[in-house]
Amino acid sequence: MPLVSMRQLLDEAAKGGYGVGAFNVNDMEQIQAIMEAAKETKSPVIIQASRGARQFAQDRYLFHLILAASELYPEIPIAMHQDHGNSFETCKSAIELGFTSVMMDGSLKADGKTPASFEENVEVTRKVVDYAHERGVTVEGEIGVLGGVEDGHGAGGSGLDHITDPDQAVEFAERTGVDALAIAIGTSHGAYKFTKKPDGSVLKMDVLIAIHKRLPNTHLVMHGSSSVPQDLQDIVNQYGGKLKPTWGVPVEEIQLGIRNGVRKINVDTDNRLAITGAIRKVLWESPEKFDPRDYMKPAREAMQKVVALRMTQFGQAGHAGDYQPVSIADIAKGYKDGSLSTRPLVAAK
Ligand code: G3H
Ligand code: 13P
Ligand code: ZN
Repeated sequence: MPLVSMRQLLDEAAKGGYGVGAFNVNDMEQIQAIMEAAKETKSPVIIQASRGARQFAQDRYLFHLILAASELYPEIPIAMHQDHGNSFETCKSAIELGFTSVMMDGSLKADGKTPASFEENVEVTRKVVDYAHERGVTVEGEIGVLGGVEDGHGAGGSGLDHITDPDQAVEFAERTGVDALAIAIGTSHGAYKFTKKPDGSVLKMDVLIAIHKRLPNTHLVMHGSSSVPQDLQDIVNQYGGKLKPTWGVPVEEIQLGIRNGVRKINVDTDNRLAITGAIRKVLWESPEKFDPRDYMKPAREAMQKVVALRMTQFGQAGHAGDYQPVSIADIAKGYKDGSLSTRPLVAAK
C-alpha cells in the first residue's frame, strides 16, 4: 500500500472512535518492530521521525526504510510524519522528501526551546498549512507548551508551566486550519514526567475535555504519552541501569482522552526503555557476546511487544483493513475543493 495521508488515517479513527499510536523511529529495527506489531494486531500506523532522528539516521535512509515497509506490508496503512518540526523550512524539507504529514511545533521558536507568542505560532503554522495542503500533506499544530527536554528540543520545566487555554485552542484551530491539534495538559517528553501516579492536579484531563467540548470534531493529539511502566524501568535497573523512580501517563487516562477526541498518541520513551532493558540484559548475562544481532533481536522483540500492547489499548487494532488509501494527489484536491474541511466545528461555551 502507498504511504497514506495522516488526515485520512485520523478521520477514519474518529469514525471508528479509536486512537492511533504515533511511534518515533531512528533506525531500521524500530521500523521493523512497529510493522511486526501492526501486522500482529492488524493496525494502521503512524511512524514519526523527529529532527534529531532525521539527523541521526540521514533522513533519506529513514524514508526509504519506511517505503520498504509499505511494500512489505501492503495490508497496513502507514502515515509518515515529521515530529516537532521547528520551522517552515524543516516541514518543507520533510514534504519534499515524501513525508505524508508534518507537525509544525510553533509553540516554541525555531530554536526549539523558547516559548513563542500566540501570534508567531499562528503565523508560522498557517504558512505550513498553506504549503502542505496544496501538496496533500497533513499538518499537526501545537498550542500550549509541553514540559521537559529531549535531545535539545523542549522548553524544559514542568508540564504545568504552559497548559493550553481552551479559548486559544479554538482561535488557533480557526485561524490555522490544522488537521490535528496537539495540546499541553501537564505531560512532558522523556521518562521523568511525574513524581507519583498523576492525579488531576498535574495531569489536566479536565482541560482536554473542555477543549474537546469546544472543538468536538478536531483531532486532538497527546504528546509525552509514554506510560513509563514499572516493569520496563525494573529491567533497565536490574541490569545495571540507574533510572530514578518515576511515573508516566496511565493508559486509562489516555483511553479517557480517546473517548474525548484524542486521535493521535505520541509514544517514544516506552520503546526506548524496552530496547535499552533488552540490550542491557543480554550484555549483563552474556558479557562474552559481541555480535549486535545477539542483542538487537531481543531489543526489537521487546519494542514490538510494547507497540502491539499500545495498539490494542488505543483501539487501532483490527482496523488496518477498514479502508483503501486515497492518493495524496486526491487529498490535495479535497483540500482545494473544500471536501476536506479545514474549518473546525466550534461549539458555544
Ligand atoms: O519529541 C520527542 C520525541 O521523543 C523525539 O525525541 O528529539 O530525542 O528524537 P528526539
Ligand atoms: P514520550 O517521551 O512520552 O514517549 O513522548 C513522545 C513524544 O511526544 C514525541 O513527540
Ligand atoms: Zn512530542
